[in-house]
Amino acid sequence: MTESVEGHYGNEGIVERIVQALVDAGFDRENLDPDVLAGADEFHIGGREGTLNVASVLNLAPGQQLLDVGCGIGGTARFLARSTGASVTGVDLTPEFVEAAVELTNLVGMNDLVDFKVGSATDLPFMDDSFDAVTMLHVGMNVEDKDQMMSELARVCRSQGTIVVYDVTLTKTGDLPYPMPWSSTPQFSFPEPASSYEAAAKSAGLQHLGSSDHYDLALKFFNEPPASPPPVSLGHLMGPRMLEMKDNAGIAVNQGLISPVLMTFQVA
Ligand SMILES: C[S@@+](CC[C@H](N)C(=O)[O-])C[C@H]1O[C@@H](n2cnc3c(N)ncnc32)[C@H](O)[C@@H]1O
Repeated sequence: MTESVEGHYGNEGIVERIVQALVDAGFDRENLDPDVLAGADEFHIGGREGTLNVASVLNLAPGQQLLDVGCGIGGTARFLARSTGASVTGVDLTPEFVEAAVELTNLVGMNDLVDFKVGSATDLPFMDDSFDAVTMLHVGMNVEDKDQMMSELARVCRSQGTIVVYDVTLTKTGDLPYPMPWSSTPQFSFPEPASSYEAAAKSAGLQHLGSSDHYDLALKFFNEPPASPPPVSLGHLMGPRMLEMKDNAGIAVNQGLISPVLMTFQVA
């Protein structure tokens, strides 16, 4: 049983497991393309497809600065830096994930564009107005105080900046099976309907530009695994317990209890 959010995620040997699996699959560890990490470093429903949906509502230009809150081991940060030319900072509560994010970023030669820091979504270690845009993928399910979280995202983002939240939301009343990918027990699990995020964003003074429910993507992600699996998976990130967590998330999706929603806001 874990006694904190970071205790649920943190584990030893993440980079070694991922790199060894890639070497076993025939990749050269000195010449890794960041894309080969996608099965393990995109820890959200839809994987890369989810990240592309986030990218499609961001208007980032080369040289701008993006913050990815709850960045995990940095897959989204590296992808958005590569695809836009923006500088990306990732911040995450789990020290083992931040260490792995730094190591993987060095390994694929992207440390000039991407950096990482340990910190909490409810107390971000950055000055006001530090970033042109902010993303947050599959993190709010671990955060009880949505008002404080949204007000922190708003605080660090510059005027007219875009804030994109892609989170697992509650879509029907009912008991969730545990362990879930974001928590082993209900104790550290705070999924809420999209309307709670939207209300918190409104209290933080953000303008709501729109929300889209990606339930179809979730059904595909859990029910139609790829014919040829990628060389690394979330099992390499979280260890063998990931199998049960993913099964439970699939059950909750198929029961209509949860769905990933993409919410876009703008700073006044
Ligand atoms: C399901 S993972 C998603 C990781 C990453 N965003 C992605 O999509 O690949 C949830 C992440 O949120 C982080 N997290 C949870 N609560 C947090 C908080 N209060 N502040 C910052 N990060 C948090 C966890 O450490 C973990 O890395």
